[in-house]
Amino acid sequence: MSASFDFSLNGQNVRVENLSPNTTLLEFLRATGRTGTKEGCAEGDCGACSVAIVERDASGKKTFRAINSCLIPICLLAGREVISVEGVACGTKLHPVQQKMVECHGSQCGYCTPGFIMSLFEGYYRDDLTTAEQLDDQLCGNLCRCTGYRPIRDAALEAFVGRSRGHEALTKNHLETPHVVSYESGGEKFLRPTTLPELFAALTVHP
Ligand code: FES
Ligand code: FES
Repeated sequence: MSASFDFSLNGQNVRVENLSPNTTLLEFLRATGRTGTKEGCAEGDCGACSVAIVERDASGKKTFRAINSCLIPICLLAGREVISVEGVACGTKLHPVQQKMVECHGSQCGYCTPGFIMSLFEGYYRDDLTTAEQLDDQLCGNLCRCTGYRPIRDAALEAFVGRSRGHEALTKNHLETPHVVSYESGGEKFLRPTTLPELFAALTVHP
């Protein structure tokens, strides 16, 4: 049983230790100063907490997927690659989806904005997002209570014109396989069996 594990956050290795396995990724991010990621509902409804992970699509090609960090136990990120809103810009140069949100006035109070940015960031690199209906689908997991969705859709449409498909996070190969995790902290355990025999063995030991 390991007392720590690593994952990649915005291109940097991050070590998790002395942390309850019941901690969510959102709680971890905010407790470690990455407060750009917001907590709205904390139950997967509002999208304020969206981050992106590197995943593979149905054809096996690397892609980003926006996820709700409030729903993800931190241990599920072991060996994975995460991009939070702090990692979207390139130095002081805004990502095109950020730049267009500024230009199109896509933000008022700003609470929803980091989540929208992460959904737009994922969409920016998708090959299968070409129609207005698909854009609506892309954004339907993010709620905004004050700006209204038209400027946000305008920002997306403008950002997606001439978009490039390449992002350095998608070209790295060091996180091909999520690590198998057996993690324990403060008497709380997290097990991730990857075969049925491992699962039944774990159930026998921890009924
Ligand atoms: Fe609302 Fe995560 S905080 S979906
Ligand atoms: Fe205020 Fe969206 S800008 S909730």
